[in-house]
Amino acid sequence: MKITSNFLREKFLKFFADRGHAVIQSASLIPENDPSVLFTTAGMHPLIPYLLGQKHPKGTRLTDVQKCVRTGDIEEVGDDSHLTFFEMLGNWSLGDYFNHESIKWSYEFLTSPEYLGLDVNRISVTVFAGDEDAPRDEDSANVWKACGIPAERIFYLPKKNNWWIAGTTGPCGPDTEIFWDTGKPACGPNCDPSCDCGKYLEIWNNVFMQFNRQADGTYLPLAQKNVDTGMGLERTVCVLNGLKSVYDIDLFAGALAKIQELSGKTYDETTKKAMRVIADHVRTATFLLGDPVGVVPSNVDQGYVLRRLIRRAVRMANSLGMPKGSIAEIAKVYIEVYRDVYTELTENATKIIDELNKEEEKFSKTLVAGEKEFFKVISHIPGNVVPGGTAFKLYDTFGFPVEMTVELAAEQGYTVDLDGFKKKFAEHQAKSQAGSEQRFKGGMAEGGGIETTHLHTATHLLQAALRRVLGDEVKQKGSNITPERLRFDFSFGRPMTKDEIAEVERLVNEAIQAKLPITCVELPIEEARKTGAIGLFGDRYGEVVKVYSMGDFSKEICGGPHAENTGDLGTFVITKEQSSSSGVRRIKAELRK
Ligand code: SER
Repeated sequence: MKITSNFLREKFLKFFADRGHAVIQSASLIPENDPSVLFTTAGMHPLIPYLLGQKHPKGTRLTDVQKCVRTGDIEEVGDDSHLTFFEMLGNWSLGDYFNHESIKWSYEFLTSPEYLGLDVNRISVTVFAGDEDAPRDEDSANVWKACGIPAERIFYLPKKNNWWIAGTTGPCGPDTEIFWDTGKPACGPNCDPSCDCGKYLEIWNNVFMQFNRQADGTYLPLAQKNVDTGMGLERTVCVLNGLKSVYDIDLFAGALAKIQELSGKTYDETTKKAMRVIADHVRTATFLLGDPVGVVPSNVDQGYVLRRLIRRAVRMANSLGMPKGSIAEIAKVYIEVYRDVYTELTENATKIIDELNKEEEKFSKTLVAGEKEFFKVISHIPGNVVPGGTAFKLYDTFGFPVEMTVELAAEQGYTVDLDGFKKKFAEHQAKSQAGSEQRFKGGMAEGGGIETTHLHTATHLLQAALRRVLGDEVKQKGSNITPERLRFDFSFGRPMTKDEIAEVERLVNEAIQAKLPITCVELPIEEARKTGAIGLFGDRYGEVVKVYSMGDFSKEICGGPHAENTGDLGTFVITKEQSSSSGVRRIKAELRK
């Protein structure tokens, strides 16, 4: 492999660091205090407040490698290109340079022998064709021409192709995309980079963010013009090495070898899909479990996605005849692969391995229970076709995979109405889809509604009160806020008593009634720690952070936003106290006016 993953990561960060960019750490995969999405899905996501104008402590030029999870196309995983976890390389201008520098630097990074040294004749680009919202981007096209890209390799495409936005509202703008010509002949006279015949493969996307799209579809100019570029690491390594599939890159070699060893089967056309799904899902699960914020398998939100990934991997592993404990063995390979880049995996290795084994065990029990239920229902079925609704119920209620239903049915001389199952499944998906789109609206990412801001402030008061009542072993393990309620996970070994819950509630309300002023100072993280502020310190040495104080009651490191005075909050009510996972409790609470 000419361009390895480590090489690309290092060269990219060095190139931009040499050009005045501060290298920032990847943010967590779990967006803190942001109910709008389950996972960090793009490099820009953690930077949205700064794209909207908030001052970033590290300045106006940043570069990073952001961990991302996207599970929208989970069924496609195992083909040549889909992954649920990926790394996004990016460079950022927060109201600093704009398209000219951005394009020139991209060109230099790609073609200079000191960096990637790519053949300029194989680079094509697209620019925004223009419409009623923004003009045709001749300016960017001219910069490309000045770099040496001839007019015939510059394509003008509409918003559908050359405009970037995360979701439906927020910072956005026209982009220029950079493509690698695979050398395949054009599929026809109109072949261009928007075509999926495989001639052109995208490697880099430079977004020139200058608008904030409103819910009503209008575009307001942003206070500052930004640049957000994104280069998918796995994809770019694949494309630039002329490989057919992302699964052929170096990052997967060890895991695929391990899967072959554990299954005693070779990676070929018949086993490829299953092996790739295992390689993908275990990698994502490893990163989710190993994340500094971290998730554990559960039945809701991130935990549910994680559970689904692990179970799907276990099922594929079973189908390949892999022994119990294989999933954890593959995770160990990844922990090693990423040892120097993502130290959190090594730090959380025990948790990763334990949780994977625990979930595998639970899933085996589910399979046993599902099988029992299968035999119960099948005895009542007239004829020899298992209705789609029955198969779906087994899947939905018992977590019993439909493939297992088909297999068992076949053994008993039955078939399964798979079309009926798919219909039910699609109905169900449409419902959850609507749910997840809902989540994208009105999040803190979009400036935060007043309700979420107040609940966020209440979360700080809650944590301070919990530590007063239960002791310092209470540490934040997760937080999620919707406009209606807060949810706070924290380390604590047993259920809280009624009295403890009442006391915590009372302390928070007392802090609210005291109308404490809320102040914020920016300090280097070591200084912040010395002030006694609590919060996730993580591996952010030297970074400047914000410390929010609420009178003497609470002092916490946090990005904000917050209310100005605790007196704005209303009445704090704890609605639930329950277990979240082993050693972690969960509180749900509301603010009532
Ligand atoms: N936001 C753009 C993307 O994710 C560029 O980083 O593709």
